[in-house]
Amino acid sequence: MADRITELRERYDYYKSLNLSLNMARGKPGADQLALSDGIIDPALIEGFRSEDGTEIRNYGVLDGITECKRLYSEILQVKPENIIVFGNASLTVMYDYIAQCMIFGSGDKPWSQQGKIKFLCPVPGYDRHFSILEHFGIEMINIPTDSEGPDMDLVDEYIKDPSVKGLICVPMYANPTGITFSERVIERFASIKPAANDFRVIWDNAYCVHHLSDDCDKFYNIFEYAEKYGTQDHFIEVASTSKITYPGAGIAVMAASDKNIESVKKRMTVQTIGYDKINQLRHAAFLKNRDGVTAHMKKHAALIKPKFDAVIKALSDSFSDDGDFSWTEPKGGYFISLNVPEGCAKRTVELCKEAGVTLTGAGATFPYKNDPFDSNIRIAPTFPSLDELKLATEILCVCAEIAKLEKNN
Ligand SMILES: Cc1ncc(COP(=O)(O)O)c(C=O)c1O
Repeated sequence: MADRITELRERYDYYKSLNLSLNMARGKPGADQLALSDGIIDPALIEGFRSEDGTEIRNYGVLDGITECKRLYSEILQVKPENIIVFGNASLTVMYDYIAQCMIFGSGDKPWSQQGKIKFLCPVPGYDRHFSILEHFGIEMINIPTDSEGPDMDLVDEYIKDPSVKGLICVPMYANPTGITFSERVIERFASIKPAANDFRVIWDNAYCVHHLSDDCDKFYNIFEYAEKYGTQDHFIEVASTSKITYPGAGIAVMAASDKNIESVKKRMTVQTIGYDKINQLRHAAFLKNRDGVTAHMKKHAALIKPKFDAVIKALSDSFSDDGDFSWTEPKGGYFISLNVPEGCAKRTVELCKEAGVTLTGAGATFPYKNDPFDSNIRIAPTFPSLDELKLATEILCVCAEIAKLEKNN
């Protein structure tokens, strides 16, 4: 073991001497991915400035989105266009606003802010920005472990007997950071939930529902179709966006929800805005066209990023396939790979990487309150660096993770 750690430290010092600056921290598309959508700024797409029903897209009006965009997302999410609202850029804003609305005005009961301490269930590991929103509103977060099929639904059923548990936030397909997709069994369990709180909401963040890495992909389940069987549609608020389809800084976001929830959100919107950016909505609809258009476009993304996912998984397998203390996900879509290093080693691994010029998402970030109880999970975002940079960064990550393990065992 002494030999091994000496060898690893020598390699580590060599990497440090390279003065690298590599980043695998945030799920951002690479420049080549952004370029795939540059056709969206072609003026021909919005020629005449009219949407198909004759709406002048430069002017005020159309609160809930132009017809073309609603149709596009109704095809993607498999709900009726009437059950879709199209917003501006960023589904995070939509989620934040929805929770703010529940806090201030409620969602079928007294405002959440007037119901004492309220709680949300958080499948872990999960998306750090979801947790930041909940923490911001002072909502207590409860970890729900997940496996390859999704969250532990027995535990969810237990917790929702408590009326102060008001919701759950999750990414049902190609989750951030694990890349797993909820199985049909888990979807069915969600659809049949019986929470004690009638104002219970599941924020169903389908950010990656079209982000397959190849034709061997996970199946999309429409939660509303399943929920209809049990009459639970009002418990689900689905969001999605084109952030990782076209441009993360200049896309469109959508919400899909039950008739009742759509009506209450629209009522709030009439005070909040006269309408979102319809020029951008029309550009998106004209550029992406329909579900098939999105599928074809996502294949171009996959061609660019699949080799990056493969490179990370190969490096992890080369280093750790014989070491049961390490495990990682091999997603069929989405933006992330989730690596579990031995307990108590994630922070040290991230720190060693940082000193060697490789930035990773902070250890703990994938858990509420940035507190990974096992200090084990590391999120890898492979899309932004070039393939060569990524290979080097992953090599360094593997060396750092092994050093952290040997240090701990020493
Ligand atoms: C699960 C998930 N939801 C939402 C977002 C952000 O989406 P938007 O740009 O629409 O706010 C991200 C971005 O990484 C994400 O991973």
